[in-house]
Parts: sequence; C-alpha cells; structure tokens
Amino acid sequence: MGIKFEEKKQLFTLTTKNTSYQMMVDAYGFLLHIYYGDRTEEDMSYLLDYRDSGFSGNPYDVGDRREYSLDTLPQEYPSNGIGDYRVNSVSVINGDGTDAVDFRYEGYQILQGKYSIPGMPALYGKEGETLIIRVKDQVTGLAADLYYSVWEEEDILTRCVKFVNEGTEKIILTKASSLNLDFLQGEWDLVHFHGRHCMERQMERVPVMHGRMTVGSVRGASSHHHNPFVILCDKETTEDWGDCYGLSLIYSGNFAIEIEKDQMNHVRMTAGIGTERFAWTLEEGEEFFTPEAVFTYSNRGFGKMSSSFHHIFREHLCRGKYKHERRPVLINNWEATYFDFDKEKILNIAKGAAQLGVELMVLDDGWFGKRDGDTSGLGDWFVNTEKLKGGLKPIADGVNALGMKFGLWFEPECISEDSDLYRAHPDWALQIPGRKPNRSRFQLILDMSREDVRDYLFERMTDILDSANIEYVKWDMNRNISDVYSAKLPKERQGEVCHRYMLGLYELLERLLERYPDLLLEGCSGGGGRFDPGMLYYSPQIWCSDDTDALERIKIQYGTSFAYPIATVGAHVSAVPNHQTGRKTPLASRGAVAMAGSFGYELDLNLLTEEEKEEVKEQIKTFKKYYTLTHEGEYYRLTNPMENHLYAAWEFVSEDQSEALIHGMQMMGQPNNPSQHIPVKGLNPEKMYQVNGEMIRSGKSLMAGGLNFPRQEGDYQAVEFYLKEVK
Ligand code: GLA
Repeated sequence: MGIKFEEKKQLFTLTTKNTSYQMMVDAYGFLLHIYYGDRTEEDMSYLLDYRDSGFSGNPYDVGDRREYSLDTLPQEYPSNGIGDYRVNSVSVINGDGTDAVDFRYEGYQILQGKYSIPGMPALYGKEGETLIIRVKDQVTGLAADLYYSVWEEEDILTRCVKFVNEGTEKIILTKASSLNLDFLQGEWDLVHFHGRHCMERQMERVPVMHGRMTVGSVRGASSHHHNPFVILCDKETTEDWGDCYGLSLIYSGNFAIEIEKDQMNHVRMTAGIGTERFAWTLEEGEEFFTPEAVFTYSNRGFGKMSSSFHHIFREHLCRGKYKHERRPVLINNWEATYFDFDKEKILNIAKGAAQLGVELMVLDDGWFGKRDGDTSGLGDWFVNTEKLKGGLKPIADGVNALGMKFGLWFEPECISEDSDLYRAHPDWALQIPGRKPNRSRFQLILDMSREDVRDYLFERMTDILDSANIEYVKWDMNRNISDVYSAKLPKERQGEVCHRYMLGLYELLERLLERYPDLLLEGCSGGGGRFDPGMLYYSPQIWCSDDTDALERIKIQYGTSFAYPIATVGAHVSAVPNHQTGRKTPLASRGAVAMAGSFGYELDLNLLTEEEKEEVKEQIKTFKKYYTLTHEGEYYRLTNPMENHLYAAWEFVSEDQSEALIHGMQMMGQPNNPSQHIPVKGLNPEKMYQVNGEMIRSGKSLMAGGLNFPRQEGDYQAVEFYLKEVK
C-alpha cells in the first residue's frame, strides 16, 4: 500500500486498502493516467489504446506515429494548446502573448506525512504520505508540482498543484485546476447537488452527455446553487452496489467542476477554482497553489463512498476541541424574535430553554450598531446598548448563571451603506469605480483581500469576544459577491480579487482560532450557501439551511449526507407553522430530523404547552443518549426522498455494531396504507439484536428482511427503531 515508483517502467502506483491509482511517464515525457479503480498492484498500462483517429494530431517528437495523440490518450494533468482539444487543466497568457503550455515530466519526490497548502484549508495528519511529481514547460519555464496524498484506510486520495514561474517573463494563469481524471471506459451518470436559498443540495442524477457539463459557482462563494462535490457513477450504481467516484474540492469560493464526454466516449473530469473572474499573475520566481481536491473510488456504491468522506472529513479536516467533544445543544433566538429583542427577552428564552436541558444560548443578528432591521448597521461591531443595556457581559453572565454557554452571531464580511464603517471607508466595500454597486439584502461586501479590512474585523471581533464569556460564534455571510473590484489592487491584478478574498477570509478565520482555540465556530451563509469542506476546516458545524421545515430538511440533509458527516450539519427544531413553508409537522418528527445533525432549537420554548415541554426534555435526553451513535457511528441512507415521497428513513450504526438507530418519517398518510418496507444495513450478521426492546433477530435476518414501516395515521409522522445487541 502507499506510494510506489517503478523506475524501469516509469510507473507510479498509489494504493489504498481497496483502490489503486496509476500513472506513467512515457518515452516523450508525457505523464499519462493509466488506471483508477479496484485495487491491483500490477502494471495496467496495457489499457492504453493507441490508434489513429483522424483530426487528432500528433506531437512533433513522436515522428510518424499517427496513432499517438494527446487528444485521445488519458492525461494526468492536460496541457493547453498543443493538440489535446478536450477540457484542459491549465490556461495561461505567456509573456509573449501565446497561450501554450507543454508540460513534460522532470522528476518526483516522496515525502513522509501529508503536505499542507500555505494559507488554505487541506486535510491534515501524519498518516498521509505525499508524492510530488514535477512537470515543466521548457519554453516558458512554467513548472507545476503535482501533489498527491494517500490515505490508505479511508480509500482517499488528494491532489493539489503548485505552479512556479521559473522563466524570465511574467505568466498569467487563467485556469489552474486542482485535479484531472480521465476515464477510458464506462457509461457514466453524473450526480450533483444543486439548489437555491432555503433549498440547498438537492440531489440530481443525469447521464453524462457528449460535450461538456459544468457544475460550479461564480458567486464568490461555493453557493446554495451548487456544491463543490460531485459523483461520477456507473449507470447501474445504487447505494450499496456498483462503481462510483466521489470528488470534493476543499474551497469556499468560485469553483468549476467540468465533465466532458469526447469523440471516443472517454470521460474527463477536471476540478478547480472557477475560471470566470480568475487571472493570476506569476512574476519570475513566484508560486501559486491550487485548492485541494479530495477523491475516492468505491465499488460498493454511494454508501461506501460517503463513509470514506465522512471518516476523512471528521478525522482529518475538522479541527479543535469540538472535533470529537459533544457539541452543546443550542437555542438560537433568530426565528423566535428576529430583530425585536432586549436583554430581558433573551434571558427569558434562555431560562425557558435551560429548564428543559438546552446548553447554549446563541444571540443572533441585531445586537450591534444601528441594527433593527436588515438595512443598516453591518460593519459597526459595537454592542447596541440601547437594546442590550450594559453590553454583552450582563447577558452572557445571566446565561452562564443558568448553567448555559453563551454564543454570538457575526457577519464580518458584509457592510451596510447605512453604517459608520461605510461612511468612514466606502473604499473598503467591493465596488467598481464609476458604477453603482449591486445591493443584496441591502448590503455590500467588504474587500477581504485587504489587510486593513481584516485587521479592523479582527480588532472589533476580539474586542467583543473579550468583553464577555462568549464560547460560540455563528459566522454568517448573507449575500453573493458582485462588482468585483478591489481599490487596493492594480488594474491588471483585478482577476485575483475573488481568490484573494478567499485567502483573506481563511487568514482571518485562522487568526481568530489561534487566539480562541476552544471557540466553537458555526459556519453559515443564509443557511447552507457556503456548506463546503473549506469552511469545515474552521467551523466543524455549518448551519445547513435557513429552511427548518422537517419535511424539506429530509431532502436537504439527504443531499448533504453524500459528502458531509452528521456532526457537521447544523439542524434545529423550530416552531410550527414553519416560517419558511407554513407547514405543521409534529414535534417528534422535527426532533428526529434535527438529531441527524448538530442539534438545537430555534423558537421560544416558553410558548410550548407543558406537554410539549416534557417532549422537548425527552428529546434532549434522547439526543444525548444517542450522540456517540449518531455522530461517530456509520450513517446509512435507507430511502431516497427525491424519489420516494411517502416515507423516508436513515440509520446510524455504532462502530462496534452493537447498536443501531433508525429514524424516519411517514411523509404522507395514505388510505388503506399498504405495507412499506425499510432496508436495514450495517449490522453484524452473526450478532443478535433486540428491536425496540421487543423481538430478537439476528443481524443476518434483519439485513435480509428489513423492517416494516409502522402503520400510522396522518402526514409527517416520526418513526424510530432502536436495535441493541443481546448476548
Ligand atoms: C441568515 C442566517 C439566519 C440568521 C439571519 C440573520 O439568514 O442563515 O440563520 O442568522 O441570517 O440575519
């Protein structure tokens, strides 16, 4: 296992527990991709199929070999403008105005441990070994170091690329992919996760067509609309069976994942920073790192693929005290009060919640500046002492006295025109000189690429965080970027703004965590508009969606679960009728859905009936009881809510397979309800399990037969099965 180089064959093989990845340097110095799939340590280069395919030209150095074409051979990191007409990995404007890049192999290194990427989030941990392959264009001097890390147990590989301008003239990078994957065989479907505000990560499966398909964002954030995660799978692949390749980009800004099916029915997939609004100048000697791509191959369907991502993200992406420690059950006042609150109101919500077992009170938007609505105040990170007399300390102390932690909302990256900050520094907002900026939620965006902006935010945030015992921060971002222009950068470098913005954001988050290592950060962008692995490196949980309706959340959390572990999914029980959909779902169902996430409440619990309050108390006890099982166990999707609109179910199995919890919902009541069946997964076939304290069956039988969905009346009814090993 690990990384192997066979000198004679010039063959690199990366092997994990169940997979192998192979590439080869050929006689002309081109780095060809040979194979990625089931584990084999043999030479797979027999798969290369050389044939003359008219209109696919031949590199000059191959002489009369008409069957040798970069347009048909599988490439590891395709060059540009030299005869491969498929989607490329790199585009440039060279010093002489040309756009060609001809990468040829120069050498390799193998390092112990996992590489890191300066200023950017990436997987970490000693277990990963690193391979660096160097390719270079001999004419311009542009070199690329292709980085690979191998995670054997998790069946995960990662890649990123470092560009170095070793020439004498400046080179402008206009495309710099993190990864390219070429597939010679197969009939593929693409699975991706699209959406909109309040409806993120809706799973969609479509056949890969001839031509190009792109999933990406130009919004300056990974976005509600697409997620930097896709799956390429065989047409027959299901949850439990078949081939699939999952690809995730550790990045929170503009991205593009391009899939092309070419003339020979080969499929190519590239992923990296989005090319629209990207142009990065490399002066002589300068370097540029791409974000990291994380990918896996599974021959056991989507379930195994998700499990690999869940493990790697939980163990090697999320950081800090709360990586494993149970997160406090929280209550957030947003849907309870919106902007209309004072100290008494907040303490009253906290008091009611504390009595039922809630552990953290989060004060949301509206505590600072002139912020009684969404038209003003962003940027003025000073406590509004008219609303909160005496500042935050009395409120935080009051919450602490109830035995709860206190947390606070910030939206550091945005600025209201009606704010003292904007009046003092209009140039701190992104806007194009001579044009009126596009407003969104009445706000503009701060230029996070500027050090002075970040210094201001750091100073304001630390001042606030030091003024009271604040143990949690919700880091929000409530609009997308437009009017991209930084007053600090010269005109020829404006193509760098979006990426520099992300680097600035990451730098500020890192600075904050260095100062407050135990702070629990929850990411947010109007719900799940920046639910990506880049943000997870800083905030181990992210508010999954502004839609808290239990029924809609089933679909949102289903899509989210393909890449992201349960522990990362911010999920709350809110009031009914639901504020986004007007739907009334039972408290038990809202609880079951929210327990498949970082659990909390978002309503005034004082307004519940005594009976409901008792139910909430029980819910919190249940959540705590099952925490290790739900948050550290294996997660299984049992139904597909994009297709099955009658009932949904999902399952958690403990690592030692001694217990399992199945949660679900009867989405629609039906007359004369036919019997419905839930598959059961992940048990030990040899073990005996008691189901809901009643019947005892073997894991083998339960997995073979599944369970019958209980007959219930009404829509949106919760279902729970608890399976415990009996010895
Ligand atoms: C966003 C968040 C909400 C809330 C509001 C406050 O929409 O997703 O949870 O914090 O902002 O303005």
